[in-house]
Amino acid sequence: MPPNPETAAAQPARPFLGFGLGLRTPHFQQVLEQSLPVDWFEVVSENFMVAGGKPRYFLRAIGERYPLVMHGVSLSIGGTDPLDFDYLRQLQTLAEAVQPAWVSDHLCWTGVGGRNSHDLLPLPYAEEVVEHVAGRVRRVQDFLDRQILLENVSSYLTFSGQSMTEWEFYSEVCARADCLMLLDINNVYVSARNHGFEARDYIDHLDPRRVQQFHLAGHSDYGDYVIDTHDHDVPHPVWELYRRALRRFGAVSTLIERDDNIPELEEMVTELEFARRIYTDESAAETDCAP
Ligand SMILES: [Fe+2]
Repeated sequence: MPPNPETAAAQPARPFLGFGLGLRTPHFQQVLEQSLPVDWFEVVSENFMVAGGKPRYFLRAIGERYPLVMHGVSLSIGGTDPLDFDYLRQLQTLAEAVQPAWVSDHLCWTGVGGRNSHDLLPLPYAEEVVEHVAGRVRRVQDFLDRQILLENVSSYLTFSGQSMTEWEFYSEVCARADCLMLLDINNVYVSARNHGFEARDYIDHLDPRRVQQFHLAGHSDYGDYVIDTHDHDVPHPVWELYRRALRRFGAVSTLIERDDNIPELEEMVTELEFARRIYTDESAAETDCAP
């Protein structure tokens, strides 16, 4: 894909944290004791909401050495239950303690009627849902007094009566709510395979000014369908899609997430170095193409 002149001209002045890892419990001690080529860490907000105790000790100590971002799973921004302001108050309190570079959650719903599915469920891609979600995002941003990032989730089903593509829906919600995107490249790949669309179309249609962070992860490929398991290394097609995203969006803070079958920290760092090398290659190629 050639460099996009429109994108280059409109390269947003977004903060760039570099290359980070999802902070996981088995690695806490090692992260504190060693000097690692990791630029920043992402923490799951809900794991640290109880004040005191060992998790908060490690969070504070690691936060003194590395930039942190907070990533939540409980906002249910697309749900129809009222927004949970008790949860938002806890989130705000944690953010005051952590001082994260930013706060993110997912473009999804997680339950209804007070019941939590403990899953990140996809939304119907339709105009009335855009309006519903964007209104809720604006209220959350007003409450937290900050812009939030929303992550695209992987999906395995579609709703009847949809009137737009997933990337159109994602773009419209973020534009109308004036929020930012945490673009999960693996989730784009997983959903593309499951629903039969072109992953590159997704990347090519997003507004670069909205994209503030990338997630990279692995999945389980069953041939006819793909599941977003986060228990494997980042596979080749996701790296290829990452290259395309870098060419389109430029320098975007990149994070590798692993939630199951968590390897030694050294292995995660090696994978992160591979991401850094791809970024360096793509930046050099862009410079070579410059007039
Ligand atoms: Fe993700």
